[in-house]
Amino acid sequence: MELLVIGSGGREHALAWKLAQSARVRKVYVAPGNAGTALEHGLENLPITAIPDLVEFVKKNNIELTVVGPEAPLADGIVDAFNAENLPIFGPTQQAAQLEISKDYSKSFMQRHNIPTADYATFSNPTDAHQYLDNKTAPIVIKADGLAAGKGVVVATTLEQAHAAVDLMLVEKNMGQAGAKIIIEEFLQGEEVSFIVMVDGHEALPLATSQDYKRLQNGDQGPNTGGMGAYSPTPFISPQYHARIMREIIHPTIKGLEQEDTRYTGFLYAGLMITPDNDIKVLEFNCRMGDPETQTMMLRLKSDLLTLIEQALDGTLDRAEIEWDRRVALGVIMAAHNYPKTPRKNDVITGLTALSEKQKTTDTFHIFHSGTCMGGNNGKEFVTSGGRVLCVTALGDNIKMAQQKAYQIAKQIKFDGYQMRSDIGHRGISNIRQNET
Ligand code: AMP
Ligand code: GLY
Repeated sequence: MELLVIGSGGREHALAWKLAQSARVRKVYVAPGNAGTALEHGLENLPITAIPDLVEFVKKNNIELTVVGPEAPLADGIVDAFNAENLPIFGPTQQAAQLEISKDYSKSFMQRHNIPTADYATFSNPTDAHQYLDNKTAPIVIKADGLAAGKGVVVATTLEQAHAAVDLMLVEKNMGQAGAKIIIEEFLQGEEVSFIVMVDGHEALPLATSQDYKRLQNGDQGPNTGGMGAYSPTPFISPQYHARIMREIIHPTIKGLEQEDTRYTGFLYAGLMITPDNDIKVLEFNCRMGDPETQTMMLRLKSDLLTLIEQALDGTLDRAEIEWDRRVALGVIMAAHNYPKTPRKNDVITGLTALSEKQKTTDTFHIFHSGTCMGGNNGKEFVTSGGRVLCVTALGDNIKMAQQKAYQIAKQIKFDGYQMRSDIGHRGISNIRQNET
């Protein structure tokens, strides 16, 4: 079979790499892919991004399944376009993806179906928003309604900052149309975890748990990013919490969608906060896998991903069996200079070639590429081309060992101005230490 993965990040590299391991798969195209997917055995980059062109390619080349990585093509209706031509594709329709596309929709959906989430109000008028804030206390959270690639959330530690964020979004329109409406939301304290499931329209199959590190700097300081590292599984989701998340959040969400005649197929990502009072609340829904959570999950997935996706498309996920490597996977992001603002491009990356050879002979680590392309003086060097550049992902018998291995490999890679946290996994490690004492 030949398959197609849409996207160009580390998540797509990991999904395509895993799909290519299926005995039934001859080739996985990645559109548009990156320098890492270009070099991977069984993968081929496809320099196409427009939806009608992708439809044409799939028809002409008898691609048997397409998997969508990022949210933007979902918001642009790629699944609807493929469905109209009866081409198999895994991901939610534009309507079903509203859970991620509009925070206002997502919050009101949660209210309608009693899914626990932070209290909130929606505004498009700045005067009303300022008045609302006058009766609130900090910290408080301001969010653009629309897609903003992780840059649309301000966790304001003072009311002044909150008022300023309202003005930036509603008056100066720094987020454009995405910030034409805003949500002002209660600040939640606690432990943030990622819970991702596959959905077949009716049933949800939970995937391995994980924890992402959103802030740029060590100690969870600095601005929010798309994610600076992750590990899987996370000790914060005990079997009891797992059962509660399925009962209190995932099942009501799937049921709610069905009740509203929205058929959802695809990955569904719940960003959750486990509060000090042991409440579990939804921070956000994403209609896709997480990045970099996927890189850690794919390194651990032992089952055939193609079979699981086929079962999701057939509506038979209730019969699916899924097996994970018992080891912990931990991924560390190396990001470009000036990420998350305007990342610098064309910095030459060294150390990758030797490691790429080494990873062919071991299952204990894999370097997934995001913002990379070929360039440099002779066009044959790896250079940076985006904010998050690489995710160095390694397996270990526990979080600490996976962390040591990932950093030991990451230290062999260099590029000018790279940014890398040195504490990915620290929350999980201290949780386990606390439980041991
Ligand atoms: P979101 O895109 O809604 O997930 O927000 C991005 C990040 O901001 C989350 O991953 C959290 O780290 C943080 N965040 C969002 N909403 C809240 C909240 N209500 N309380 C505390 N932190 C939040
Ligand atoms: N790592 C967070 C996300 O993918 O949204």
